[in-house]
Amino acid sequence: MRTFNESVSKIEESKKYLAGGVSSFLRGAMKPIPLFVKTASGSHVIDADGNDYIDYLLAYGPLILGHADPELTEKTYQAMKSGNAYGLQHDGEILLSKRLTEVLPCADKVTFSGSGTEAVMLALRLARAYTNRQKVIRFHGHYHGWSDAIFTSFPSPDLVKENSDQADRVLPGTSGQSESSLQDIILLPWNDPEALKQALDMYGEQIAAIITEPVMCNSGCILPKPGYLEQMREWTQELGIVLIFDEVITGFRLGIGGAHGRFNIKPDLVTMGKAVAGGVPLSVVAGKEEIMDLVATGRVNHLGTMNGNTMVTAAGLATIDILSKNNNAVFEKMERLTQNLVSGLRDVMLKNGVRGVINQIGPVFHMMFIQEDEVRDFATFQKRDAAKYSLFAEKMLDEGILVRPTGLWYVSAVHSDEDIQRTIEGADRVLQSME
Ligand SMILES: Cc1ncc(COP(=O)(O)O)c(C=O)c1O
Repeated sequence: MRTFNESVSKIEESKKYLAGGVSSFLRGAMKPIPLFVKTASGSHVIDADGNDYIDYLLAYGPLILGHADPELTEKTYQAMKSGNAYGLQHDGEILLSKRLTEVLPCADKVTFSGSGTEAVMLALRLARAYTNRQKVIRFHGHYHGWSDAIFTSFPSPDLVKENSDQADRVLPGTSGQSESSLQDIILLPWNDPEALKQALDMYGEQIAAIITEPVMCNSGCILPKPGYLEQMREWTQELGIVLIFDEVITGFRLGIGGAHGRFNIKPDLVTMGKAVAGGVPLSVVAGKEEIMDLVATGRVNHLGTMNGNTMVTAAGLATIDILSKNNNAVFEKMERLTQNLVSGLRDVMLKNGVRGVINQIGPVFHMMFIQEDEVRDFATFQKRDAAKYSLFAEKMLDEGILVRPTGLWYVSAVHSDEDIQRTIEGADRVLQSME
């Protein structure tokens, strides 16, 4: 059995000064204790007690190149040596924005910010300004960051309100949130063309934007039904609604062109974060010239002291350089490794009599323990045994495997066949011990 004594004492120390002891609320939920890291490299993390893990948390998604990629680290360091933030312009901004317009099919122009939350805030603002409309459609089980503009309760007990006496109100995600900020949000079930059609029939010309994760990665890694996103594209075009794909997870994960490149659908705007700079805090809004030009003319304010600094542009460029080597070959490698991992995990669930579902696309998948044979919508996803999965994740630590307690796994460009084999063997032992 591994011990976590150092992490235990460090979290106590941290709590004395840092509210909650963690820097982002979700991290506090980790069992048996939020781990402190000593160092990390490639696909491995070593915690403060010296325990070594194969890492599938990958900082909640950004580390598409693994930890401390040498090329990314060197290029970022070199950029910082000439000064990190100027509040003036520099070549890195030109190079990265040009490169992004080349690799992202929907991008005529781009902007830079620091987090996915900020990118979504800007995309919504652009859509409202462009259409002169206020309402925004979003979907159950999707997450678009924690700003007042869009944060409904997550992980999504917002579904509960459908059965309560507050049927028409979208509930804020946290206390302290301005309730009026959500008054123009319409919350719908996803992957349900009829529900969308009904809402569009009712509110069509008042709707500024539809914002959707192109794959519902935040709740079950659920794929869009065949034709669903295409239909959404068609209806939004007919009604003059701005279609926003929130690619904060799928951007640079489902391919260099993101999900919209993979599915060959052109939204009006995309938001990207996480993997876009391989773990350095950069986010991007990209899209159609006539919408992005609202930023150019100053009609829409896009601000931020640290936006587009030399460190993030160098990291963004390095990430694109590395991912696009040999004609994007690394995506095939990640896909192959992930398919092997998923098929091994399915085998050991079956062998140990554990009912479960794994939904996968590219190097991301969601593993859940559930009686149903498939999970294709958010209502079914809510039936999974979250407590049992969280226990599984905790026991995986003893096998030297770090996974997110909620079931979403990420695979990086530097995971190896050996990592995958060890992970399947570890999962087998854990599942045996749980039955
Ligand atoms: C789809 C999606 N959009 C937006 C965000 C917010 O990004 P950030 O945490 O960088 O603010 C997230 C974060 O997980 C996300 O998954």
